[in-house]
Amino acid sequence: MRYLQTLLTASVAILVPARTQPSSEELAVLYAALEVGPPEHPTPTVERRVPLSTDDDTVTPLIDLQVYAPPVVPQGGSKCTVDLLKHDFGDGSYNNPAIAAYTPPPDKACGQPGNWAAVTLNLTVYSNGTQYDRLSSLYLSHVEVWRHSSAEPTKTGTIWTSVKDVTHYSALFAKSGDLLMDFSNIISADYALDGVFHVTLTGTFYAPTTVFPKPAVADLVLPISNLSPNQTNFFAIDNDAGGTVAVTVPRRAQQAFLEVYASGNSAEEFWYLNTPDEFLSYFPSSTGLIGKGPFREVQALVDGKLAGVVWPHAVIYTGGITPTNWRPLTAYGTYDQPTYFIDLTPFLPVLADGAEHNITLRVRGQGEDPTINSDWFISGSLHLWLGKTEVSGTMTTYIAPTDALAATSGRASADNATVRLSVVANRSIVIESVLHGDQGKHVVRFEQRLSYSNEQKYVSDGWVQWGVQLTEGTTQSTHGGSVVLRDAFSYPLSVFSNYTLYEMQFGAYGSAINQTYSRVLQTPAFARGSRSILSIQHAKGTVGLDDWPGLRHAINGTGATDQKFAFHSSTGATYYRSIAAKNDAWTRDSVWGSLRDEAPPVPKEQIKPGGGPGFRRELGTGV
Ligand SMILES: *[C@@H]1O[C@H](CO)[C@@H](O)[C@H](O)[C@H]1NC(C)=O
Ligand SMILES: *[C@@H]1O[C@H](CO)[C@@H](O)[C@H](O)[C@H]1NC(C)=O
Ligand SMILES: *[C@@H]1O[C@H](CO)[C@@H](O)[C@H](O)[C@H]1NC(C)=O
Ligand SMILES: *[C@@H]1O[C@H](CO)[C@@H](O)[C@H](O)[C@H]1NC(C)=O
Ligand SMILES: *[C@@H]1O[C@H](CO)[C@@H](O)[C@H](O)[C@H]1NC(C)=O
Ligand SMILES: *[C@@H]1O[C@H](CO)[C@@H](O)[C@H](O)[C@H]1NC(C)=O
Ligand SMILES: *[C@@H]1O[C@H](CO)[C@@H](O)[C@H](O)[C@H]1NC(C)=O
Ligand SMILES: *[C@@H]1O[C@H](CO)[C@@H](O)[C@H](O)[C@H]1NC(C)=O
Ligand SMILES: *[C@@H]1O[C@H](CO)[C@@H](O)[C@H](O)[C@H]1NC(C)=O
Repeated sequence: MRYLQTLLTASVAILVPARTQPSSEELAVLYAALEVGPPEHPTPTVERRVPLSTDDDTVTPLIDLQVYAPPVVPQGGSKCTVDLLKHDFGDGSYNNPAIAAYTPPPDKACGQPGNWAAVTLNLTVYSNGTQYDRLSSLYLSHVEVWRHSSAEPTKTGTIWTSVKDVTHYSALFAKSGDLLMDFSNIISADYALDGVFHVTLTGTFYAPTTVFPKPAVADLVLPISNLSPNQTNFFAIDNDAGGTVAVTVPRRAQQAFLEVYASGNSAEEFWYLNTPDEFLSYFPSSTGLIGKGPFREVQALVDGKLAGVVWPHAVIYTGGITPTNWRPLTAYGTYDQPTYFIDLTPFLPVLADGAEHNITLRVRGQGEDPTINSDWFISGSLHLWLGKTEVSGTMTTYIAPTDALAATSGRASADNATVRLSVVANRSIVIESVLHGDQGKHVVRFEQRLSYSNEQKYVSDGWVQWGVQLTEGTTQSTHGGSVVLRDAFSYPLSVFSNYTLYEMQFGAYGSAINQTYSRVLQTPAFARGSRSILSIQHAKGTVGLDDWPGLRHAINGTGATDQKFAFHSSTGATYYRSIAAKNDAWTRDSVWGSLRDEAPPVPKEQIKPGGGPGFRRELGTGV
């Protein structure tokens, strides 16, 4: 079916939003730094990356990576690194998470539990053989702290590492609990799937220093998840009801922020390319086009009342669209998916009464009953700051229509040879309360102004498709007039795919993808100013297939991916990277900025300016 992973080896909003994406001034500094490029004499690279496990020292494992902004941590203070989890996800790992007891590190060098300046996790995975991209999620005490997808490994071994700042979960790390990691994998001789994921998770705890004190992170973090003791903890959502959990919020809570993890899976993996139902009949079902339209909204509700929404960035996994594009350079977010924040503080007069309340996470699409296909994986956490006084107050403004109904329009040429579709949606939410708490009487105001457009064009009976999507907007909240949350984002995505040669012996398909993630994010959860990220990616690739019809395999392919990345923290830290890969090899990598040594370029011996040989599978090697 179309867009299944391939293996290598309306009615509109009431208020019209203003232009809301990150301001040109904010982005100008990021573009300017990329324009100037790296300094002429870069400092020598320290080779930090080492293979996790291989007994064949003639083979260098391919370094596979998602470009990320390294965490900003204290320099020169006291710190410690501890092993948290080591597990091989192989045969029998499907729906069988690894569970490891967690206790706060007692070593003095780590700093006092709960009083850390920063906490980071290092997730390193080694795999060799053949495997699909598989999704993993990591929880501490049932709170999701990391959502990650795998590489499609090479036969000679592939290694990938990401380091994530988890300081905002300090309240969880300060207490004993269970670390649960789901990385459902399948080993199958019938399908020639032999790639095991060898996972090493370490944590680094930084004691505060005079220049880098403990940030004002939440005092309490509650799970918004299914709380299972032995299965993955996200809600797998395939209906309009979503997932609900009852929470009890202490009466002394002064601030409440919800963090949300959300990703489409199966028939929702490529939600942004899904066809509106009213136009599905224009195309033969053999094209495998999927319905329920391309617009998705993740909603958070408090006792059934809408409290805020997320219009997510589309994360493309390593098997997504054209897998040859994502080895060794992945799309942004693959190894550490972005998360989103909703301010629930205006709901505290209701939530913080000492009784149980329902928090619901659900997804709305454009189909009918349910509005989405199967399925979305959603979870979240409620970050609470506790004070001295019991909070009370009144909600004074509530403008939050139940749904951002998307408006779809389309036209077909006389012979139906070309079909053009357009989906637009706008959304404004304003929720304001007057609260009485530690700060005395003050106004808390949560506001979202979001806009969305998606243009699709189909030719050749739907075998060729263009999808051009733009999601942008600002989520902002002020407490007593000061901005405490600001998420200004713009996520342009453009996908071209050509499947005209798909249904034939030795068929093939190809694609071209442009994707940008530009986001300025300030949240009280991060407690240390704002972070600006600009990632610009261009990818182009093809995949060749064997037998038609019947069980098919990818037999060869080409893929070239280019990325420019810039990161600024309001603390002054910077990280820039200009990187490219072609046909399974690195062709370019330069890294500069103050955080360069935290995630240095790939070793020179892995840079092959002409690219690699590309993916090849021997014909006649069985299944
Ligand atoms: C690759 O995987 C196979 C089977 O899991 C294992 O026997 C072999 O040692 C691995 N090779 C390397 C280089 O890790
Ligand atoms: C991450 O951990 C791996 C092994 O567990 C180690 O080799 C690597 O140096 C670490 N990377 C960073 C940036 O800390
Ligand atoms: C998983 O947990 C559930 C709920 O506690 C329990 O009923 C079930 O037996 C457990 N399954 C396994 C395999 O431990
Ligand atoms: C185009 O497709 C629509 C929807 O299936 C159908 O109603 C219409 O008859 C088709 N037109 C032509 C010229 O095939
Ligand atoms: C929470 O949901 C349950 C189940 O639907 C319902 O019985 C209960 O009344 C709800 N609680 C509140 C406070 O809305
Ligand atoms: C959404 O807002 C944009 C920008 O203001 C506007 O151009 C567009 O027409 C709006 N769309 C709808 C459906 O109102
Ligand atoms: C991607 O961007 C390049 C350069 O702007 C452009 O030539 C190409 O047509 C774009 N491809 C897609 C699929 O939008
Ligand atoms: C799609 O691929 C076919 C076969 O390679 C080619 O003939 C056709 O021109 C392509 N279509 C587009 C729009 O690029
Ligand atoms: C893939 O293999 C097929 C069948 O041997 C061949 O026709 C095609 O040219 C190959 N494509 C690439 C990109 O190597």
